[in-house]
Amino acid sequence: MSRVAYVNGLYVPHGDAAVHIEDRGYQLADGVYEVWAVFDGRLADAEGHFERLERSLGELKIAAPMSRRALSIVLRETLRRNRVKDGLVYLQVTRGVAPRDHAFPGPDTPASVVATAKAVDRAAAEARAAKGVGVITTPENRWGRCDIKTIGLLPNALAKQNAREAGAYEAWFVDDLGLVTEGASSNAWIIDANGALRTRDTQANILRGSTRGTLMRVIAGAGMEVEERPFTVEEARSAREAFITGAGTLVMPVVRIDGATVGNGVPGPVAKRLRQLYIEEARRTAL
Ligand code: PDD
Repeated sequence: MSRVAYVNGLYVPHGDAAVHIEDRGYQLADGVYEVWAVFDGRLADAEGHFERLERSLGELKIAAPMSRRALSIVLRETLRRNRVKDGLVYLQVTRGVAPRDHAFPGPDTPASVVATAKAVDRAAAEARAAKGVGVITTPENRWGRCDIKTIGLLPNALAKQNAREAGAYEAWFVDDLGLVTEGASSNAWIIDANGALRTRDTQANILRGSTRGTLMRVIAGAGMEVEERPFTVEEARSAREAFITGAGTLVMPVVRIDGATVGNGVPGPVAKRLRQLYIEEARRTAL
């Protein structure tokens, strides 16, 4: 079946989908993006992603290209045209096309809006989750506004590639104090040696994950507690369990850090339960 992309008001064959060479996203990474997990053709954590998108656009002073309602119609239509029931939908908004200049073009320059959809093999994802994944650690080298979901992802891409070359799935950034900030495309969590469930607070220079936000509510609903407190690599290595969260991974157990096993090297009970509870909640509340 042929894939379709949304590009500035049109649904076009994926292979022909293009933006101009002077798009500011292409030349300056001057844009933002969002990724929604999709269950049964519906958007998981829909509002959280829309709120963050609006915030990211506001921080970059890019006017919202359309209403939340119109955007959600575009996303759903992109999913429908690609017959994606379970997977991901990607949205990118840049400051638009203008002759290359670091300063912004005039306010009448229309934003570029692109959406794509991708099916995910949930059975394969469950098989991965049943085994758990490895992470490597790498020095934090990103800019100071990682709370904005910009398309400027070069440090993340390099870190992810280093992880893959080391046979790992994800890379965790570590700040100057030896504290884990977050993953290249996920938030990081542990159940520490004392049994406390911990993840870094969002005052830090990290992305406020929508999956993280929903999981916080799931945790409270299950009568569990979570501490928003950073942890060192050492604490993670000696933790009972570790896991990552994100639209691409949902809740994914981490069983190796820099080659050393976490706990007994298999996904732990808390991570497994939270994955299940998160997926139930995401399915139930998807829009
Ligand atoms: N990444 N931290 C970073 C740096 C991320 O890129 C992501 C998501 C997250 C988790 O956010 P959320 O739970 O809202 O997906 C945390 C997406 C999936 C990506 O870049 O593909």
